[in-house]
Amino acid sequence: MAEIKTIGILTSGGDAPGMNAAIRAVTRSAIFNGLKVKGIYRGYKGLITDEIVDFRTQNVSNIIQMGGTILKTARCKEFTTPEGRQLAYEVMRRHEIDALVVIGGDGSLTGARIFANEFNFPIVGLPGTIDNDLFGTDSTIGYDTALNTIMECVDKIRDTATSHERLFFIEVMGRDAGFLALNGAIASGAEAAIIPEISTQVDQLAELIENGFRKSKNSSIVLVAESPVTGGAMALAERVKNEYPSYDVRVSILGHLQRGGSPTAYDRILASRMGAAAIDAIMDDQRNVMIGVRNDEIVYVPFTRAIKEEKHVNPRLLDTLRRLSI
Ligand code: F6P
Repeated sequence: MAEIKTIGILTSGGDAPGMNAAIRAVTRSAIFNGLKVKGIYRGYKGLITDEIVDFRTQNVSNIIQMGGTILKTARCKEFTTPEGRQLAYEVMRRHEIDALVVIGGDGSLTGARIFANEFNFPIVGLPGTIDNDLFGTDSTIGYDTALNTIMECVDKIRDTATSHERLFFIEVMGRDAGFLALNGAIASGAEAAIIPEISTQVDQLAELIENGFRKSKNSSIVLVAESPVTGGAMALAERVKNEYPSYDVRVSILGHLQRGGSPTAYDRILASRMGAAAIDAIMDDQRNVMIGVRNDEIVYVPFTRAIKEEKHVNPRLLDTLRRLSI
């Protein structure tokens, strides 16, 4: 294996709180180990358009507490083509980058896997997404912060829901996964969560209403995971308005505010540990793996498993939510 002297680092896909803490950890850990670091701006796009600068330890000073990503991010169409990846590879070789650390979600790690295989190039991934939908890690960078943001928002909506005795449908992000909705519901004491993972099996709304979730309460909060499978909060609210006209229904879509803000201590620590582990993995000749944390231990998860295997929501959490919402 060729000696690795210089690593490149980029963030890609949707930003997530804690990405900066990860950039800092990768950069400092690499420099600590005698490696050079190049920061690549705007994800894979910057790799193609050559937006690459030398990173020193000062480049990552004072960023651990910042949301977003100082490296910027993008979803790059060109990188999905062989021609785009060829260009990216040439730019990378010109900069004498010997290995890459990619921080991002599902799509970004899919790109990393293809690129690594195509050019037999060492890439290590860090799971950076609020969705928590990557297999092989208990948590992804940004998930805990987004969960806390959701909890704070729902606490506020609860004040008005209670005062007006209303039924609120609150839509949260998660792409095709219900982790944010389910755990957000438990954390905020919501009455129910409607998530894509079980939408195909039952009519969750009918079940909810039939079980009389408003029997003992005058106001209720239901978290809905955004997804074509759940139909989203708007559609569910419309259905309730038609079928149960006596309910005073409102909708709130939390949107991109879930992606912002200063990362929680949990996300900063997770990102710091994972960032340092990415450099250990590179020095250890690991290839095409995502860094995960399982049962508080660092693990290496092959890209293919991280992307292709389904991460299941814990069915016991649904049961807990149901029991606590009476
Ligand atoms: O993957 C992170 C995420 O925030 C998803 O939860 C959401 O579906 C998507 O990104 C939104 O993407 P965009 O910011 O490009 O609209």
